[in-house]
Amino acid sequence: MKNRFKNILVLIIIACGFWYIIQYEGLRLKGIDFSLKGNKLELNQKDKLVNKNNINANTALVLVNSEYGLDKNYEPKDLTIPSISFASGVNEEERHVAGIIIKPLEELVSTAKAEGIILIGNSGYRSYKSQKNTYSSRVKSEGEKLADAYVAKPGFSEHQTGLCIDITNKDRYFVKGTKEADWLAKNCYRFGFIIRYPYGKKNITGIEYEPWHIRYVGKEAAKYIYDNKITLEEYLEK
Ligand code: DAL
Ligand code: ZN
Repeated sequence: MKNRFKNILVLIIIACGFWYIIQYEGLRLKGIDFSLKGNKLELNQKDKLVNKNNINANTALVLVNSEYGLDKNYEPKDLTIPSISFASGVNEEERHVAGIIIKPLEELVSTAKAEGIILIGNSGYRSYKSQKNTYSSRVKSEGEKLADAYVAKPGFSEHQTGLCIDITNKDRYFVKGTKEADWLAKNCYRFGFIIRYPYGKKNITGIEYEPWHIRYVGKEAAKYIYDNKITLEEYLEK
């Protein structure tokens, strides 16, 4: 009987050993696989750490969504007010964007104007604190479910990166079918921007369709994303 117990114990120990090796090797192999997939995924992984450590989230391909957040003290480099028109009532902070997008944004707006389209800035950079206010006032006015569909929680908003801006028109009615929204959707990639929350992609982005929210990713990524009708999440995983 004693021997039988001993045998069972040995078997359990061996099984645990196997289990541990499988888990450990699995994770290790996953890591190797991850780094073999090339730059994009490495960048993606690095961004996760970068975001957490509050260093250099200024890269144009930084991923911020409900999964990948920013330190609450993170502030983009060279916050500047672009030379574009803003809607009345837009506060000083939200007129700023990251230095890296100033030129492409100004070019986008001036090209639109030359093509007969007047685009107006509505909300650029938002600090953690502003996003907290934006989110909580939306929860108060519309409830948590609707707030979550359109507004990121503080620390998880791209607006804190300064790499995006909400655009509007003179009627402040920026929906699909207006000439301004249609122009933006069709042309923003030319300047390195994407419609960050496209129609029908909420299952990937976590956010409802927002025709007004453009995000700078650089010309190469923007063209690929536009041509292939994909999201930033899909681009970074490809
Ligand atoms: N509206 C976008 C999702 C934000 O709040 O960051
Ligand atoms: Zn936005």
